[in-house]
Amino acid sequence: MSVSKEQFGTTKDGVGVTKFTITNKNGMSISLLDFGAIVQAIHVPDKNGKTADIALGFDDIAGYEVNNCYFGAFVGRHANRIGGAFFDLNGTGYQLQKNDGENNLHGGDPGFHKVMYRGDTAGESSVYFERVSPNGEQGFPGAMEVKVTYTLTDDNEFKIEYFARSDADTIYNPTNHTYFNFLGHDGGDITKHEVEINADAITESGVGLIPNGNFIQVEGTPFDFRQSKKVFLDIEADDEQLKNAGGYDHNFCLKKQPREYGYAGKVFEETTGRGMEIYTDLPGMQFYTGNFIGNEKGKDGAVYTKRTGMCFETQFFPNAVNVPAFTSCYLPKGEAFHSTTVYKFSW
Ligand code: GLA
Repeated sequence: MSVSKEQFGTTKDGVGVTKFTITNKNGMSISLLDFGAIVQAIHVPDKNGKTADIALGFDDIAGYEVNNCYFGAFVGRHANRIGGAFFDLNGTGYQLQKNDGENNLHGGDPGFHKVMYRGDTAGESSVYFERVSPNGEQGFPGAMEVKVTYTLTDDNEFKIEYFARSDADTIYNPTNHTYFNFLGHDGGDITKHEVEINADAITESGVGLIPNGNFIQVEGTPFDFRQSKKVFLDIEADDEQLKNAGGYDHNFCLKKQPREYGYAGKVFEETTGRGMEIYTDLPGMQFYTGNFIGNEKGKDGAVYTKRTGMCFETQFFPNAVNVPAFTSCYLPKGEAFHSTTVYKFSW
């Protein structure tokens, strides 16, 4: 195991950005930026030993300063949507930015993926990024110490750990928004990948993809990924939920205790033999098939379009702060927040 450091460029404000790369003994590597705590690249061999970068993203900081699709993003303070961009906490109402129609998406601007962190190595296989998110940032209460630690093991596990502590009662729902394409970041259409998701139900969403508090059992629907299936099989089905989102962009209710660490799903791409298993201690996972990717000029001259990458965003259910039946993302004053998600690769 080793961690190397190099300059990645400078932000438009003239701040130098560092890229950290963790490499394991099997030839896998993960590259991370102290700008946005971004996952910039994930190099994975295939069954013939040919290595490719399987994460969508950019070659330069200018790309990440725009990054409307959230490539490789550490998302905070609140992943996914909050209905009406509003929530009430202890009798006080908090109005957030309406950056997705009437709703709040991924916290608002500036997102956690567009600010600088203090970054450093921790041992031979980990890198951490930390900062204080000021009281009121994006409209959320409490000054919050935020830290994310990325580890790559010799078992090919990419482990993401989120830590936080706030000086006032608040909410926190971090996620990682890496877009995977196991053919390679420039491999095009992802719908021939096989996906399995450990969920009997999804949260039903209405207008603006805001969960309405109901659940849909996946049995007999296009959302049944309890056994691996190719994504294209049902993605164009005549189904209102799919049509509202232009494909899969739904929260799956993982079959486990809400904060218990356990199996969330897996992906497999048969021509390369590359795959990954996902584990988390969060209650939900947004499976997003990149339906909204426009013509994004990415790494090595690649142009990313609709459904050329997919995300497995482990999270508290969207809008949980406004739906009492959902596991709460409430973080009381002074309490230590800790959560772990693992992407375990194979080939
Ligand atoms: C999440 C959302 C999608 C989309 C992307 C960003 O995955 O669920 O609807 O907004 O982020 O493009």
